Amino acid sequence: MFVTFEGVEGSGKSTQIARTASWLAGLGRAVTATREPGGCALGAALRAILLDARNTGLDATAELFLYLADRAQHVAEVIRPALARGDMVLCDRYHDSTVAYQGFGRGLNLAHLAGLGEMASGGLHPDITVLLDLPVEQGLARARGRNRASGDSLAEGRFEALDLQFHERVRQGFLTLAAQEPHRFAVIDATGGPDEVFACVKTALLARSIVL
Ligand code: TYD
Repeated sequence: MFVTFEGVEGSGKSTQIARTASWLAGLGRAVTATREPGGCALGAALRAILLDARNTGLDATAELFLYLADRAQHVAEVIRPALARGDMVLCDRYHDSTVAYQGFGRGLNLAHLAGLGEMASGGLHPDITVLLDLPVEQGLARARGRNRASGDSLAEGRFEALDLQFHERVRQGFLTLAAQEPHRFAVIDATGGPDEVFACVKTALLARSIVL
């Protein structure tokens, strides 16, 4: 079973993935929790380029191909082998992020992204996608608080530095994708605290009987 988690900056994906992973492990399931970009060695190198706020001149198409390179390697090296072992794979971001950020956010051609996404993933689609939805102002405030708490003022990535309109397009992109595929997506209100949100995540996953 392949489950992806999506959402704007500061939507709480990593917290919810960690909780979901320990919940499933407690139920005796083998779990692989991973992320994009950066879920494999090549991806870690690409992630450093992609998130470095000093790379202000990165062309949108070049950026797209770096995310796709990360995905192709990650699917081949991590996700497919984990699924073949029978693991539940929980992935922080996947193709929907490419459509939301590079398509709706950057304005790249959506039809091209669909074809390139198929190529990069080798046709591997998530069974379920948990979309943690919240207003972009709230998410960005959380993300900035997190960067400050880590004491790393350089941690603000290239995307967190972009304007609110960009993030609003990304949010609406995710919601558009969710409306197009209501069976795959569980849209969850992420404005509450971690416990409240996790209760909803659990309910959504149980409703899709992924745990049994
Ligand atoms: P990350 O620090 O993981 O952000 P978050 O914790 O919010 O997930 O950085 C990943 C960034 O990469 C995030 O801003 C979204 C962006 N991204 C894309 O633009 N396209 C993609 O295909 C993927 C996977 C991520």
